Amino acid sequence: MKRYILAITGATGPVMGLRILERLVEDSEVHLILSEPAVSIIKEEVGLDLSEKPEAMLRSWLKEKRSAGASFDGFFVHNGKNLWAPVSSGSFQVDAMFIVPCTMKTLSAIANGYANSLIERAADVSIKEGRPLILSPRETPLSAIHLENMLKLARLGVKIVPPVAGFYSKPESIDDMVDFMAGKVLDQMRIDHDLYKRWQQ
Ligand SMILES: Cc1cc2nc3c(=O)[nH]c(=O)nc-3n(C[C@H](O)[C@H](O)[C@H](O)COP(=O)(O)O)c2cc1C
Repeated sequence: MKRYILAITGATGPVMGLRILERLVEDSEVHLILSEPAVSIIKEEVGLDLSEKPEAMLRSWLKEKRSAGASFDGFFVHNGKNLWAPVSSGSFQVDAMFIVPCTMKTLSAIANGYANSLIERAADVSIKEGRPLILSPRETPLSAIHLENMLKLARLGVKIVPPVAGFYSKPESIDDMVDFMAGKVLDQMRIDHDLYKRWQQ
């Protein structure tokens, strides 16, 4: 079974991270990390209150969304401030880490090795251990600071996959657009999905 870290930070669009979570828990072990601002924005945009017992809340949310019978045994939620969590250590083996969406603040911390939260530390570990790290930075417009931080990370092999909609899949709803953007993130690890229709002539 593959083991992934998925982090959601406090940018608009946490629904994209949640869409990825829905797919990953189907057949992988998932360690979800939420930053404090992410919890507030999930409540605001998705209407899901994760301020208390986030793991239990997300398990029942996933059951509603995916399959009522699933137990999601391999699903863990870590507090973004808990630097003692297993994902803080390079000795804890993972296949990849995703940060979707990724704020410019977290991106900057990662680009500068400033590991002050569990998300930043786990990303720092991914880079030092040479493991796949996929970021979906969400901001517009982008300043030179944002672009420099992204370039620095891209040069280190970090995948920068911003949430940019594609139109060849003929989206008919916001849901279709979210699926497309989440699908493009999953594509980076060759994780199969049917979130969008691939280009075919
Ligand atoms: C409603 C709302 C939307 C935000 N959207 C973004 C965003 O899209 N991108 C971003 O970089 N920061 C955004 N921010 C600012 C971040 O939440 C803020 O920089 C925070 O410190 C990020 O912390 P985190 O990276 O630990 O989650 C937003 C803040 C609020 C309140």
